[in-house]
Parts: sequence; C-alpha cells; structure tokens
Amino acid sequence: MKPLIVANWKMNPSTLAEAKRLFNSVAKGIKNIGRTEVVICPPFVWFSNLLASKPYTLNPKLGAQDCFWVESGAYTGEISPIMLKNLGCKYVIIGHSERRKLGETDEMINKKIKAALETKLKPILCVGETEEERSDGKTFEVLTRQLERSLNYLSNKSFRNLIIAYEPVWAIGSGNPCGISEAKAVNLFIRKIVKNLPILYGGSVNSQNAESYIKEAKFQGFIVGGASLNPQEFIRIVKSVVKT
Ligand code: PGA
Repeated sequence: MKPLIVANWKMNPSTLAEAKRLFNSVAKGIKNIGRTEVVICPPFVWFSNLLASKPYTLNPKLGAQDCFWVESGAYTGEISPIMLKNLGCKYVIIGHSERRKLGETDEMINKKIKAALETKLKPILCVGETEEERSDGKTFEVLTRQLERSLNYLSNKSFRNLIIAYEPVWAIGSGNPCGISEAKAVNLFIRKIVKNLPILYGGSVNSQNAESYIKEAKFQGFIVGGASLNPQEFIRIVKSVVKT
C-alpha cells in the first residue's frame, strides 16, 4: 500500500481565501509525488470551492473530518456520507478524540463507520488513550475496547476499505509526540486485532519525526494536524515519506 498522509485542518482557516491559498500551495508543492496518497480534510464549508479549484487529479485528494450515519432527513447540522460521496470526497475521519470529547461514543462511531463503508467512502477510525489512561497502564485495554465497539457487527468484506489511526490523545496538539518504540509497540498490538488494515499514526507529527513513524515504527502513514496548516512544513513531511 502507498503511504497515506492525511492533513486534518480541524476548524481552520477562517476565510475561503486562506483555505484556497493553503490548498493550492500544498497541491503545487506535491504535484510530482507519485508513490504517496495525500488527503486534505478541510472544514465542510470550504469543500466545494476547493474541489472546484483542484488543480491536479492525483494528489491531494479531499476527505471530511466527520459525517453522520443517516443518508438524509431531519438532522439539523449534520452532513451525510452520501453528500460527501456525491461531492467527490473519498475519505472521512471518524471518531477523532476532539469529537469524542464533545460526547461522541463508540456506539455512534460504529454507526458512522458502517454508514461510510456502505456509501463506499474510506473511513479513518481514530483510536487512542488519554494521558490518565496511559499512566494507569490502560492503553491496550482502551484500544481494545474502542476497536471492538467501533467495529462491532461489521462484515469482514467491508473491512477492506477501512483505515485505523492510532492517535494518543496526550500527543495531539501538544508538541509531545509518542516515542517511536512506544508507538511501534502499540502499532503491533493494534495489528493483532485488525490484521491487514493500514494503521496511521497521529499526534504532533512534524518534518523531523515523520520518517521514523514509517521506517522504524512501521506505520502506513499519518494524520497531521497543526503542521498541516503550514504548507512548507506539510510539503516537507510528505517529501520525507516519499524518500523512505
Ligand atoms: P496534531 O493533530 O498534529 O496537531 O497533533 C493531529 C490530529 O489531531 O489528528
């Protein structure tokens, strides 16, 4: 599988002009990258505009930061998987810790994953332990619970389009990335549960540490938050992976 690098812009930037500038700088900087899949996940409101201005067909692709589990109806504020699919979106992040903090449960995540797979989107399921769970030695227990509940009742066949992202909550946006050997141990643990699925790492990834997560810790790519808002830094991250 080609390495997969996902930019999670979260709730940024605040104008369309900035979103276009950021998107176009990244697209230009990575236009000759062949062996890597780059996905940008902007806020929903910038989606159509960025798709319309998408200068290159190969990279970057567009992904969403979340979706709902019903196709259409009276669900104020929600966005359905079929809407995303019809726009040309290919990937969707589901169960990010920042959404879990707002009340999203494993059961809701399970419904979202199922709906996204049925719509032929590729869901990126985020799992990860908090600082407290880590210091209590509960990392593996938490990951097992999150994976089992989020993937409950999914058929083996539908697993093919699924991607897992290990995102330790304490490493997200903290400038304190998970050490390579710890990340590798967790990667191996998750792999025992999900077998052949691609596993990404997320949490304070930058151009200095990106390569090691692929080369040494054996992840298939990553989710980049803060560093994806700086086009030059994000391009360096992508290029560091292409080198490996
Ligand atoms: P970060 O965010 O790179 O800013 O730590 C990663 C994420 O939230 O997916």
